Amino acid sequence: MLAKAPLSLVATEMQAVNDLIIDRLSSDVVLINQMGHYIVNSGGKRLRPALVLLAAGACDALDSRAHLTAAIIEFIHTATLLHDDVVDASELRRGKETANALWGNEAAVLVGDFLYSRSFEMMVEVADMRVMDILSSTTNTIAEGEVMQLLNIHDADTTEARYLAVIHAKTAKLFEAATRLGAVLGGRSSQEEHALATYGRHLGCAFQLIDDVLDYEATEEKLGKALGDDLEEGKPTLPLIYAMQHGTEAQAALIREAIEKGGRSYIDDVQEIIHATRATDYTREVAGNEAKQAREALRSVPASDYREAMEVLVEMSVKRDH
Ligand code: IPE
Ligand code: IPE
Ligand code: MG
Ligand code: MG
Repeated sequence: MLAKAPLSLVATEMQAVNDLIIDRLSSDVVLINQMGHYIVNSGGKRLRPALVLLAAGACDALDSRAHLTAAIIEFIHTATLLHDDVVDASELRRGKETANALWGNEAAVLVGDFLYSRSFEMMVEVADMRVMDILSSTTNTIAEGEVMQLLNIHDADTTEARYLAVIHAKTAKLFEAATRLGAVLGGRSSQEEHALATYGRHLGCAFQLIDDVLDYEATEEKLGKALGDDLEEGKPTLPLIYAMQHGTEAQAALIREAIEKGGRSYIDDVQEIIHATRATDYTREVAGNEAKQAREALRSVPASDYREAMEVLVEMSVKRDH
């Protein structure tokens, strides 16, 4: 077992990445600086850049290019959050008011665009065609995932398979890119690259499944986000899909109506049905299965403290309460 918390292994490098993030946020446009610093300084777990660093560490590639790549990944993540909060009409993020709540939807969308395009400029700096290829196609897939999700909104016939396709695209793909890039930066074999990419993808899936559980089960204080946002906007996540399939006819009808109409008035009834059908237990089971596959993939990566930290992160991602 690792003696220390998994992320402490890359704490010094994380500091360098954070400095880089702050440095590259800068713009001559005051509003961009204000909003950029607001969201970056609100915290966030910095899980994705940490994954870049751990994977790079496992591949002997912890250098300035890894720092830059980690910062790029966090910029892309932050841009998706700015856009996602507009689409989801969310008001709380990282324990603070969202950028859209404070500055309006237009500003949040445009500053999200700034972060995406700044990340493209930084990709050019890495000056590696493979890195560029992975990051550009990943960004494209995330956008597809968010649009696919939009099409599922208020659609109570969304299947588990369609839901899984969305979370693969909108969340798992960026995790996959983060860990794959560690191998690419280290010039590792395609087998090792595949193993790290597989690890990241399954970890990302598990992470989003738990996020969708926490939307019903966490406390707002710990999560730093409003609970019940998914139900309010009629988002058919796995807890709802499962509850609909395994509830009584009346319970299924209520959830269908809640998805189709959205809003907060159904929350108590829906929580009760989710509880009765053990829908979040099932979702945690699916996440647990993804976690298992993530751990299995790591077996093909040579043993190191970095690999061990990645293993610990799998447990933390499924057992987390925020
Ligand atoms: C939020 O990601 C979006 C999801 C994929 C669920 P995080 O939970 O990693 O967000 P921060 O960066 O820590 O705020
Ligand atoms: C994750 O989905 C969003 C992205 C990957 C862009 P959610 O909508 O569930 O994320 P939160 O709950 O708002 O952080
Ligand atoms: Mg959201
Ligand atoms: Mg969520």
